[in-house]
Amino acid sequence: MCGIFGYIGKKDTAAPIILEGLKLLEYRGYDSWGIAVVTNGHIEIQKQIGKIEGVQTSLPKSSIGIGHTRWATHGGITKINAHPHFDCTKQIALLHNGIIENFLDLKKELLKKGHVFLSETDTEVAVHLIEEYAKTTSLSNAVEKCFKRLKGLNALVVLSLLTNEIIAIKVGSPLIVGIGKEEYFISSDPIGIASHTKNVYFVQDNQLIQLGKTFEIRDCSSGLYITPTITVIDWDYKSSLKGKYKHFVLKEIYEQPVIITQIAKYGKEDVQKLTNEIERAYGTFIVGCGSASYAALYGTYLFSKVAKKHINFSIGSEFNYLEDYLTKKSLVIGISQSGETIDVVEPLSKALKKGSQIAVITNGLGSTMYRLADTKLFLNAGVEKAVMSTKALIAMLSVLLLCAYSFEKKQNEGSLLLEAAAKDVKRILSVTEVNKIKKLAKKLAPRQHIYLIGRGLSYAAVLEITLKLKEAAYIHAEGFAGGELKHGSLALIEKGSVCIVVAPNDETYASIISNAQEVKARGGYIIGFSPIDNQVFDYFLKTADLKEATIIPQVVIGQLLAYYLAIEKGVKDPDKPRNLAKSVTVK
Ligand code: F6R
Repeated sequence: MCGIFGYIGKKDTAAPIILEGLKLLEYRGYDSWGIAVVTNGHIEIQKQIGKIEGVQTSLPKSSIGIGHTRWATHGGITKINAHPHFDCTKQIALLHNGIIENFLDLKKELLKKGHVFLSETDTEVAVHLIEEYAKTTSLSNAVEKCFKRLKGLNALVVLSLLTNEIIAIKVGSPLIVGIGKEEYFISSDPIGIASHTKNVYFVQDNQLIQLGKTFEIRDCSSGLYITPTITVIDWDYKSSLKGKYKHFVLKEIYEQPVIITQIAKYGKEDVQKLTNEIERAYGTFIVGCGSASYAALYGTYLFSKVAKKHINFSIGSEFNYLEDYLTKKSLVIGISQSGETIDVVEPLSKALKKGSQIAVITNGLGSTMYRLADTKLFLNAGVEKAVMSTKALIAMLSVLLLCAYSFEKKQNEGSLLLEAAAKDVKRILSVTEVNKIKKLAKKLAPRQHIYLIGRGLSYAAVLEITLKLKEAAYIHAEGFAGGELKHGSLALIEKGSVCIVVAPNDETYASIISNAQEVKARGGYIIGFSPIDNQVFDYFLKTADLKEATIIPQVVIGQLLAYYLAIEKGVKDPDKPRNLAKSVTVK
């Protein structure tokens, strides 16, 4: 959450370089943005609320600066609360990602010492605390001393007028240094840096980074300077651009057949490492948030059905209250697009502390989770820029399917199902099928509530589609396990209530159709996602019949419906739903 980008080098175009970097990181937060550069003996700051797209910088020439895109936590969405923030002398500008949990106590202390605060943010205490400490020690020591007093998971990036350097430190929040030719970059993730250099250093917790004429790393625990281990990130920068599509989310939906096919071709050894861990473990949890949590839920049903394995499922933020019975024999699998979601990083770190095994399924090559685990499956779905997860979620479902099948030594069968799923997704993306979805979107756009029902594997699909409808189209959507309706929620149904019924040709079919009848009997308008048309459906969208892979076309239809509902409703930018950000690194 929040995007950080900094530049120091020979070029005098720091401000536009930073602005471009922030544009690439904007999906991490888009409430406001700001840039600070050193110029003609002072630091100049430009801040603005709202999105950064189409914006130009008014800042003068400079060869050093830092910038930030904000996802507001403490303090409203105002220009004053936008980062960077100054100390009282305006010689230090600071930006921050995270939450300073003890900021009120620190603020009281600093107010007593005469510091003047301009914003409502927790961030501003850090810059004044550094100013205070810098009265008696070097700036780098002051940053370290300040950081040690902050409670919570935070990253600080400081621009100093006096020493003409950028200093950074972090715990939890991700930071990456890009190493160019006589220039350095600092960024929240490699996407920001990819167009400048492939050589990156992943900053570790409690390392103090100094970027000046040289790049220095001091490990704050030992006080020792360390030599960076450079990782070469071989990313095709162009693949992260929008291309011919109006929105990233649409581009990413259309990329899915290729991604599924790619996963179908995964080598046995890639998958086997994870399945061996599951085989060895005594109690396995799969933990994720949002869409990834629905992939995890799918995993629970899937492993039971295909691999006859019991795998527990937990939402990342709830795992704290479930972890008491982890033992050295337990396995915790984190599943995450970004590999940075704090609510998943924490369970994995706790599991490691308890001596349990961990594994990771992620799209975040080099991410915090990727680095934590020895056993990892890379989703390889390419950069996902839209805040709403589509292709990464489909990649997660595909990888889980392959793993479940590999238990029974039937990975080939899993691969064939995935190839068939890729084919069906291509069919769904055809003009004819998309037009049917667009027509439905037109019909549903005025609705305020949409209900969805499914059972078994399709219950996970229902929850995922529900989330897409909320995020993209701001429609209240609620998903139920079909059997649960009559235990209370059926009371919501009245004449004209819209209910999407996800009905695969499996053991759930007869029961979910009965549930659809129950809704219809009370006046409901029934939309069926199914391989089989049924007289109960008022509107029918076909999926292929692909056993456990049927969830893939089900979800893709839901993604398209959510996207076209957003377009129908005139949502300005479906890539950046209001109030959200990609990569949730605060609790
Ligand atoms: C939904 C969505 C979010 C993410 C969630 C987890 O469309 O994008 O719900 O799935 O924030 O993110 P990752 O997978 O990066 O851990």
